[in-house]
Amino acid sequence: MRMRNLLIAAGLAVAGAALWWRRNPSACPYGQRFWVEAPHPIITRDRLREVLDPAPGERVLEVGPGTGYYTLDVAAWVQPEGSVDILDLQQEMLDHTMRRAEERGVASVTPTRADATTMPYGDGTFDAAYLVAVLGEIPDQDAALRELARVLKPGGRVVVGEIMGDPHYVGLKRMRLRAAGAGLSFERRSGSPLGFFARFSKPASPTA
Ligand SMILES: C[S@@+](CC[C@H](N)C(=O)[O-])C[C@H]1O[C@@H](n2cnc3c(N)ncnc32)[C@H](O)[C@@H]1O
Repeated sequence: MRMRNLLIAAGLAVAGAALWWRRNPSACPYGQRFWVEAPHPIITRDRLREVLDPAPGERVLEVGPGTGYYTLDVAAWVQPEGSVDILDLQQEMLDHTMRRAEERGVASVTPTRADATTMPYGDGTFDAAYLVAVLGEIPDQDAALRELARVLKPGGRVVVGEIMGDPHYVGLKRMRLRAAGAGLSFERRSGSPLGFFARFSKPASPTA
């Protein structure tokens, strides 16, 4: 009986913490990076490649790389002459990813510490962008999506990845509404509500 009560109390505590996190979007602290270093089922690197469709020579932006789970692979996919800019709120995450890049001899990754809602890049800078398990951590998701649309070249694409179990999970329906408000058109989803990548694009011309 005592054990049962303990288990119920633990379950309620976990559910309460998850609810609190959902209602209070914030960046996953570097001290809890074991979440982002674990394998990412469903939202795999191969699936990201298929949806993002990176091409040699492209300049790609990754928002919220964490410890770089996807970064080095994407940097390889845009070679030769392509590059990846990583933008994160936390310097520790950027440093961690850059250490991994140095260890692998990858010189085409550029870190920038900034908030996704105020990006220090000019209009139309990137061919493509992606963010995985990041959107729900941002208190003003609309502002972040508007910034993504601004820094993309006309016709550029953005891929948003989400995985169920993440307390900041953003469902496709809500994501599509927000993206449409930022001027991004939904193209397709790869995966299921359990975990997916959604691909959006910026119109090729302002009137498109
Ligand atoms: C859960 S981690 C995901 C890491 C990585 N994308 C992955 O899937 O392994 C979220 C990352 O987004 C970053 N982040 C959260 N809010 C942000 C914001 N407003 N601007 C920039 N980065 C942010 C966090 O610092 C963290 O590195």
